[in-house]
Amino acid sequence: MIVSPNRIWVDGCFDFTHHGHAGALLQAKRTGPPGCQLICGVHNDEDITSNKGMPVMNNRERIEHTRANRWSDEIVENAPYVTEPSWMDRYGCMYVVHGDDITLDADGKDCYRVAKDLGRFRVVKRTAGVSTTEIIHRILTNENNISIASPEYFPTTELLEFYSSGKDGFTKHCYVFDETLDNCVIQSNVYKLVPSECVYIQGDFDLFHMGHIDQLRVLKSKFPDSRIILGLLLKSDNNGDTIMTFKERALSVLSCKWTDGLILNPTFKLDVSPFPHNYKLNSFELCSGSEFSSYLTTEVIINRIKDKRDHYTVRNEKKGMHV
Ligand code: CTP
Repeated sequence: MIVSPNRIWVDGCFDFTHHGHAGALLQAKRTGPPGCQLICGVHNDEDITSNKGMPVMNNRERIEHTRANRWSDEIVENAPYVTEPSWMDRYGCMYVVHGDDITLDADGKDCYRVAKDLGRFRVVKRTAGVSTTEIIHRILTNENNISIASPEYFPTTELLEFYSSGKDGFTKHCYVFDETLDNCVIQSNVYKLVPSECVYIQGDFDLFHMGHIDQLRVLKSKFPDSRIILGLLLKSDNNGDTIMTFKERALSVLSCKWTDGLILNPTFKLDVSPFPHNYKLNSFELCSGSEFSSYLTTEVIINRIKDKRDHYTVRNEKKGMHV
């Protein structure tokens, strides 16, 4: 394959596939010309375990979540942990993009040393405040470092606008509303939202994962001609605290390729919704028969960490996070 600046390589573990990863993918896409292709190399469980520590989300969950990102165009499984230019060549990518942190292999060497030496490395800004370590810490301690009383708990318009970007990284795909359809915060410039042509799903989308994403996919298959609008509840579905902040949940759902619009903190009840078809997240209708939604819940992920508390405590301590 001809190596071209129109094809961009990014690689990583993408554990939890959180909005920090999504932000890196969107920035990576914007390093190329409009219409460029983003090739995402995902490391396998074995390589992550030997270089960094056991991932929480397994191979298939990380791969399919990265595939469901709006800005990723192609997924390459088993991508080497230390980036190999021969792999970039094979997929026609001139350069690799990574956040402005240094990733080390098991020997403590920079994973991008070869690409850097060849001048085939580009850097984007890493998203502060979110990481696999940080999410594990919140689950182990039952505490979030950002309280609902803090302005940081909520997304800024600037961030909402950034994560509403279309597949090309430049157009505005998603609408964002505050509480009702009367308060439009971000307007799409690629389609006109007509409520009768939409399907609505409401939930907390905490730790946004493949169990949620597969429900959006099922919705799309039931209503292929409809736009999917998500209602993001401020509190958890059982009215308690969520692990992820409102901002983090909003940015995560906006990064998903199935999302066409988002209503922040919807104040209407489902039975008086402006949309013709309405669903609650995790309803039996959406979960049954779907590979991920039938077993993967936020609770299951929390238990993966709590069941291996000692392992994850040691792993986090190595990163300077003490329980
Ligand atoms: N990344 C980012 N912001 C974050 C976390 C990751 O921009 N908060 C970027 C990384 O710089 C990299 C890509 O996302 O370019 C994939 O990162 P990954 O290999 O999955 O791992 P980490 O950087 O270790 O992220 P985490 O600590 O969350 O596992």
